[in-house]
Amino acid sequence: MSHAPAPTHVPHHVAIIMDGNGRWAKSRGLPRIEGHRRGVETVRTTTFAARDLGVKVLTLYAFSVENWKRPQDEVGALMGLLEYYLKKELETFVRDRVRLRTIGRTDEMPASIQKLLRTTMEETKNFADYTLVLALNYGARTEAVDAARAYAAAVAAGKEKLNDSSWETFSRYLTTADLPDPDLVIRTSGETRISNFLLLQAAYAEFIFTPVLWPDFTKADLAAAIAEFNKRERRFGLTSEQLKPAAATK
Ligand code: FPP
Repeated sequence: MSHAPAPTHVPHHVAIIMDGNGRWAKSRGLPRIEGHRRGVETVRTTTFAARDLGVKVLTLYAFSVENWKRPQDEVGALMGLLEYYLKKELETFVRDRVRLRTIGRTDEMPASIQKLLRTTMEETKNFADYTLVLALNYGARTEAVDAARAYAAAVAAGKEKLNDSSWETFSRYLTTADLPDPDLVIRTSGETRISNFLLLQAAYAEFIFTPVLWPDFTKADLAAAIAEFNKRERRFGLTSEQLKPAAATK
């Protein structure tokens, strides 16, 4: 019998709910925005950590449809940070071949950010090996409503047949249409909620909740989450025996 460690299966698509910036700052007696500033540094390091570990698609929940309700100065500061980040990262994305994508109603983001996003996406669109997806003004329910509306319009225009409705056809109207479903969803800061994030796409994902606050999240934490993912058995509705026929008959 071999005792070789099982090969690591790296999740193709990892999605992260970045949480805990405010508490990180508060525990140090700093303003909340300082936590977000540090959070941006973690966005940067995690983008490359995920790629080093073999992840192909990384989705980060950067701003939700509900986040507009935060105090106006915090919303403004977050937009400022996002603008600063996009300006600074364009060169890095091009040099390191990171394809940038977004999900969410980005047409409601400030015009300056929309412009930066367009430029960055255009300049990185041909990088096929690694994709960073920023969820901006994203909410899963809003996404579902938008998709239902687009699908209904396609039916009305005779492009889709109502009788042929299936997940395969409907999911083409989600903003994630050309992205694989997430295999692993991580939430930092000890909260154990999904908060309107990728509700439909994460139907079969594994969830890992870590107490680490987002500004403290490191490559080692990501590697630990991937190791935990490896210990779990994904059954997609099947039985263990169906998934491991050889082992089951031994
Ligand atoms: C949660 O912390 C974090 C967010 C509101 C969004 C994450 C934003 C960033 C990391 C910065 C901007 C992003 C990019 C891509 C440049 P919280 O404020 O809810 O923390 P708390 O729960 O401790 O208050």
